[in-house]
Amino acid sequence: MIHYHRLGHVPPKHHVTHYVDGKLMMEQCMTRVGFDSTYSILYFKVPPTDEFSVRAMELPGFCPIQPLDRQLLHRRHIKTQDLKVEGDFLTARRTLLMNADVRVGVCKPNRPAQHWFSNGEGDECWFAYSGGGTVESVYGLLPFRQHDYVIVPKGTPYRLHPDGNVGTFLVFESDTYIDVPRQFRNESGQIAMHAPYCHRDFRIPTEMLRYDAARHGAGPFPLVVKHANQLSVHEFKHFPWELVGWDGLVYPVAFNIHDYQPRTATIHLPPTTHITFAGRGFIICSFVPRKVDYYEKDGVKAIPCPYGHASVDCDEILYYVAGNFTSRKGIESESISLHPMGVPHGPHPGTYEKSVGHDRTAELAVMCDTFKPLLLTSVASSIEDKDYHYTWVKRENEAMETSK
Ligand SMILES: [Fe+2]
Repeated sequence: MIHYHRLGHVPPKHHVTHYVDGKLMMEQCMTRVGFDSTYSILYFKVPPTDEFSVRAMELPGFCPIQPLDRQLLHRRHIKTQDLKVEGDFLTARRTLLMNADVRVGVCKPNRPAQHWFSNGEGDECWFAYSGGGTVESVYGLLPFRQHDYVIVPKGTPYRLHPDGNVGTFLVFESDTYIDVPRQFRNESGQIAMHAPYCHRDFRIPTEMLRYDAARHGAGPFPLVVKHANQLSVHEFKHFPWELVGWDGLVYPVAFNIHDYQPRTATIHLPPTTHITFAGRGFIICSFVPRKVDYYEKDGVKAIPCPYGHASVDCDEILYYVAGNFTSRKGIESESISLHPMGVPHGPHPGTYEKSVGHDRTAELAVMCDTFKPLLLTSVASSIEDKDYHYTWVKRENEAMETSK
């Protein structure tokens, strides 16, 4: 997804014998878009097809989920800080918003990873609100730290181990892929010099995964697979995720939001200028501390706080991480706002005027724009601030009363 990489031992050509300790390794081609796009070639000690049992599983709130039957059109504020869950990186996941292209949820594990999981529906992008840790996968061990994005490719068996077994994560589940936006690549696939990051900013698995009885147990080894909005558990007699090597362009990566190089300009740039990753039908953007709009001429100044806008083809969600978000009041860290297409949105009264003359913002937030409407799930509805839509009016009245 980022650049070609090789880890461990691979033979000199594709599809040729590869003996290790006298045993022929099983090659697996992990391909995307049929056989036409990026791929990796993996060499397994035990064939990844040796499952002996398949059974159904359900994790309500993650799979299956319950979208609201009727969703009135208005601005939303989902207080994920109020969500109380128990479980590991899989069972503590809750989906909050969904459409056909992407699902957005949070995960707040408070237990050691007890499952292996593979999302057969699409790539996942984890954002570590708090907590670092390690992703353990067939591609090896990938350490991550607070405020990292971690992209796990579709079909990757993995476990996520937060340090101390606790953490808070925002999780995007694509229906297809999540990648560097096409406009940030040159014709050879290299990340272009005008992109807001470079190849050096992306971290990849550092060492191959080795089976350890103390860590991985004695078996059988179950793998939870998500596909077609269902979970199934596939059991293997022998530890199936130890490889001797792999190479290619498909593997998990980590990227820290603080390595994002924000655009700044004399006059306000549209929010999508902060695009970081793209999937089919949605984009993920990073708002990081930065200098803001600095136009000033003949007493006329730039307004750094975003203008009101009717982005008529997009739903927009923001996940607030840290700092003062300049355009909103009543929003706290871990809040998610949803501003849907169909109605305009903009800064809360007072914030627009107050921003004039500011030269920096300390905000840290993750934005997602989608081209299809997002539906709330019943979990999101249970932690929603139901008055949010009208806070613009209320605050305007408050401001008027104060000015009297
Ligand atoms: Fe907006």
